[in-house]
Amino acid sequence: MRTVYVNGEYLPEDEAKISIFDRGFLMADGVYEVTSVLDGKLIDFDGHYARLERSLGELDMNNPTTREELLEVHRELVAKNEIVEGMVYLQVTRGSAGDRDFVYPDPETTKPTIVLFTQSKPGLAHAPAAKVGWKIITIEDQRWARRDIKTVQLLYPSMGKMMAKAAGADDAWLVEDGHVTEGTSNNAYIVKDGKIITRQTSNDILHGITRAAVLRFAKEAQMVVEERPFTVDEAKAADEAFVTSASSFVMPVVEIDGAAVGAGEPGPVAARLREIYLEESLKAAI
Ligand code: PDD
Repeated sequence: MRTVYVNGEYLPEDEAKISIFDRGFLMADGVYEVTSVLDGKLIDFDGHYARLERSLGELDMNNPTTREELLEVHRELVAKNEIVEGMVYLQVTRGSAGDRDFVYPDPETTKPTIVLFTQSKPGLAHAPAAKVGWKIITIEDQRWARRDIKTVQLLYPSMGKMMAKAAGADDAWLVEDGHVTEGTSNNAYIVKDGKIITRQTSNDILHGITRAAVLRFAKEAQMVVEERPFTVDEAKAADEAFVTSASSFVMPVVEIDGAAVGAGEPGPVAARLREIYLEESLKAAI
């Protein structure tokens, strides 16, 4: 049985409890992070911690922890649960004021709830899917307008994943005004004439930690990066496509709405970026 962390305590997963009045449960008033683990070490912990602080700040929520404490909890859970490859999930909510109210509770008397647990994913770095690539469909982006805040409000992305599944695909790309914003739980890219094209960061998309690292590595490898929105038609006519996230790293996309992208198999740019990302991230893992 897994050991999880709830508000300062390490507990067996079936003994961990939070209030039914917790605002995360009632109002999706919470933020989260997913940090991958490779070789028993944390990938880009500081990037995830910085984004957590930003998400909390945007929602006027107090940070219940510090970088050092949080790093310790991550490491402790990885050790206790013997995670070699997988991830650590972290969630902070505005807590429970013991009732339901649209007004935020007083942060002096209502402390945030903090929960962490691990997910073991043996073989994550060498996922067979990366050799085959993902098929994706495109759907309308019907999420709220602050996608830069990593909230636990994940119903529409979850519906999108189900629509993809029903269509025999692996994921969905979300489209607004004819342009791709991002995937249900990843950032989206195309490659055309050697150029890597991905939407610039704004309130429209999550500022992916993997995205930032991959773009940095791409530039260091002298690849050309263009940060701008791209259309679904452009994506279908691209040489390659791929997505990035903490759980998929760099995942090639080989089909969009039933049409093959490029040769219909993982392309060289995505494959190279995946290799560089895994190698460099592992070197820097803590
Ligand atoms: N999802 N865009 C969205 C909408 C996401 O939910 C995620 C991450 C990303 C990629 O961000 P990062 O590279 O920091 O993981 C982009 C996580 C993995 C999840 O919900 O499980």
